[in-house]
Amino acid sequence: MRLFHPLAFFLVILSSLVNASVTVYHQVPFADSTATTSAASANYTGAAAYDPTVLTPPPVPAGFTTQFGIQLSSSSATMQGLSIPQKGSFMGFSIEFTVVNQIFGVNATYLQVPFLNLMALLRERAGEVHIRVGGNTQETAVLVDSLPGGVMVAKERGTTTDVTATPTLLYTAEVFYTMANISALVNTKWFLGIPFNDTSNLRLAIAEVGEAVLSGPGYLLGFQVGNEPDLYAAHGVRPSTYSPSDYFGDFGIVAAAVNNDANIPVKNNLVAPSITGQWTPESVWDTGLIGSYSSSLGALAVEHYPTDNCFAEYGIGSPVVPQDVFQNFLNHTSGINIIAPYLNSTSYAQASGLPFIMMETNSASCGGLPGISDAFGATLWALDYGLQMAYSNFSGAMMHVGGQDVYYNPFTPPPTNQSAYHQWTIGSIFYSTIVVAEAFGPSGNAQIIDLQANTDNMFTPAYAIYENGAPVRLVLLNYVSDPSGASDYTTTISIGGSAIGQSNATPAQIQVKYLVAPSVSEKSNITWAGQTFGGTFESDGRLTGSENVQTINCDQSSNTCQVTVPAPGAALVFLSSNAYAESGNPSTQTFSTTAVTKTANTARVDPSVLATSNGMSGATWEPGSTSKGDIGAGLRNSLSVVSVVGAAVLSTGVLCTWFWS
Ligand SMILES: *[C@@H]1O[C@H](CO)[C@@H](O)[C@H](O)[C@H]1NC(C)=O
Ligand SMILES: *[C@@H]1O[C@H](CO)[C@@H](O)[C@H](O)[C@H]1NC(C)=O
Ligand SMILES: *[C@@H]1O[C@H](CO)[C@@H](O)[C@H](O)[C@H]1NC(C)=O
Ligand SMILES: *[C@@H]1O[C@H](CO)[C@@H](O)[C@H](O)[C@H]1NC(C)=O
Ligand SMILES: *[C@@H]1O[C@H](CO)[C@@H](O)[C@H](O)[C@H]1NC(C)=O
Ligand SMILES: *[C@@H]1O[C@H](CO)[C@@H](O)[C@H](O)[C@H]1NC(C)=O
Ligand SMILES: *[C@@H]1O[C@H](CO)[C@@H](O)[C@H](O)[C@H]1NC(C)=O
Ligand SMILES: *[C@@H]1O[C@H](CO)[C@@H](O)[C@H](O)[C@H]1NC(C)=O
Ligand SMILES: *[C@@H]1O[C@H](CO)[C@@H](O)[C@H](O)[C@H]1NC(C)=O
Repeated sequence: MRLFHPLAFFLVILSSLVNASVTVYHQVPFADSTATTSAASANYTGAAAYDPTVLTPPPVPAGFTTQFGIQLSSSSATMQGLSIPQKGSFMGFSIEFTVVNQIFGVNATYLQVPFLNLMALLRERAGEVHIRVGGNTQETAVLVDSLPGGVMVAKERGTTTDVTATPTLLYTAEVFYTMANISALVNTKWFLGIPFNDTSNLRLAIAEVGEAVLSGPGYLLGFQVGNEPDLYAAHGVRPSTYSPSDYFGDFGIVAAAVNNDANIPVKNNLVAPSITGQWTPESVWDTGLIGSYSSSLGALAVEHYPTDNCFAEYGIGSPVVPQDVFQNFLNHTSGINIIAPYLNSTSYAQASGLPFIMMETNSASCGGLPGISDAFGATLWALDYGLQMAYSNFSGAMMHVGGQDVYYNPFTPPPTNQSAYHQWTIGSIFYSTIVVAEAFGPSGNAQIIDLQANTDNMFTPAYAIYENGAPVRLVLLNYVSDPSGASDYTTTISIGGSAIGQSNATPAQIQVKYLVAPSVSEKSNITWAGQTFGGTFESDGRLTGSENVQTINCDQSSNTCQVTVPAPGAALVFLSSNAYAESGNPSTQTFSTTAVTKTANTARVDPSVLATSNGMSGATWEPGSTSKGDIGAGLRNSLSVVSVVGAAVLSTGVLCTWFWS
């Protein structure tokens, strides 16, 4: 049976209206890519976001083990090494400031419905979504009263000397209202950046207006002070001697200005240092930054890309051949290696009482790598990398979203002049964010551990998530690509039991959702619990297809449950029906069949609940139809109803389908 998400259903009714009015600047022209994907795509000249390059999956590793056990303690008290408590919003997005009008919509009343649908999917699972808006463009951005044509952002080309040719960004306060409207619908919370290109002429308007519009309802997370300051010298925007102590001084100037600005009520939400790895984090901590500015700092952050495609993009560095480095993304060592330089810092941050955030990351800088960043291999990689960061006591990880000219976007709107006949392209790593949202759920209390499973190899990592002392979910990955099925593995899970001196605690049944694709090279046929966003230009931001959740009967006498993980693929295992329901899944009464299919009209929301739920105003309430089929008639001309529906559905966190009373 087809799942209708009610919010998605309503929003999509509006989508033609919305799509018709999107304005995009400096769009990369691109060739039609309805052509089928093939390896012979080296001559593709269109936009990177739709590049059809398909790589060859690495061979099946020799001696791959397909059977192993996982033993869990029934209590977190005896599980050494659990992370700090994590939120379902752990994995969020970093959106380049210049593309907000493409991603969010042209203004506060014309929002991009597919974007709202995508965020709604995450909010349903995690309760909220964290988004950083910034990037290189934040440094020179200027808030202006109005722009020609009534637009809310515009770029001035060629006005900065930065080698990345970053344009100066002009924007109006409408950007903040747009963000606030999005937040009211899907509970997004925002990091912004204070322009830092010139500390003798600070432009604090982003903090003044941003606070005024976003802070009240709790939508503002903080302001970055500087973006990648360890690259300033290389980019030619500071003297070649620019060092951590110079950054310390510049940070102090901003902190003092914020303290002295009566229009910035919150003084302690600044984020530093957002370095990329050219400077070690320790070299910044050792300036005394945290101690000196403890009353200004809200979070510590870094930004990092494990490799780059800058030679192809800008002729900088050395060329990278995607096929040669594909395998580097396809094992558990990748995430561990990327994070290793930060372990001392996550511990230092914890001791300092500050969250430590990966503020901008993705598979490769300068746009990502064709055939890697946009394929299922990156889905598994980003899932493992994200969970590894959570296990390593980061408090968030933002996957970067660029424009049409990058390969790694979690989501890409169609070029403006094609929005009438093309939909959005959902990138392979968006699936990773859904799985992370479900794995942690909305409690804010999820602790994760890397189980070091199957130490025979690095291709089958596994994580357990504990909540309130008990194991609730497992994430199992299989990086191997083997269409024969011979590399699917089966793990035997035990919770408690005499082997570890505990009583048996393995449940009678577990639920399993699978994240699968035919190979790690796959770009369009990626499914999460049987549902997909489809391929290039195919999505309105909703998952399509019927949901398929497996129920597995455990053997309580032997205290074991067996879960098979396909090659390639990942499994999210729910160890109780509560753990399943909490992650945005319906609280189904029983799980007696092997597949759970959501049915229509199983849940219902009282308008009085709507009137008091988060992020919405009772005054904007308008009744809809009682029938799913003709609901559109009452909604077509009313965005305010959409906001009511969005706020209500998602704040209750229980709905898969509903009807109006
Ligand atoms: C879309 O706009 C680009 C850039 O102006 C142009 O090159 C391309 O031909 C247009 N495509 C269509 C289908 O109109
Ligand atoms: C791609 O480019 C190569 C080298 O320039 C050329 O030999 C080949 O014919 C081109 N392929 C297609 C399909 O145009
Ligand atoms: C928002 O954009 C739409 C479409 O371009 C336009 O009709 C409307 O006037 C704009 N609203 C504001 C407040 O600028
Ligand atoms: C969205 O923003 C506009 C402009 O600020 C405002 O008038 C409108 O009420 C908002 N809409 C919703 C649904 O919150
Ligand atoms: C900083 O950016 C602003 C706005 O883009 C620009 O006017 C100014 O010249 C820049 N200052 C420096 C020192 O680069
Ligand atoms: C960890 O970071 C602190 C603060 O910078 C530093 O003093 C200490 O030496 C670092 N420890 C290691 C092992 O790098
Ligand atoms: C695993 O990944 C690491 C780090 O990316 C890479 O160096 C290594 O070559 C990979 N190993 C295999 C067997 O592919
Ligand atoms: C994460 O923090 C917890 C709590 O302080 C600690 O026990 C654990 O060892 C840390 N994990 C890592 C990988 O540093
Ligand atoms: C999609 O992939 C699944 C395996 O993940 C496979 O069973 C199915 O046949 C594929 N569908 C298409 C249309 O290729």
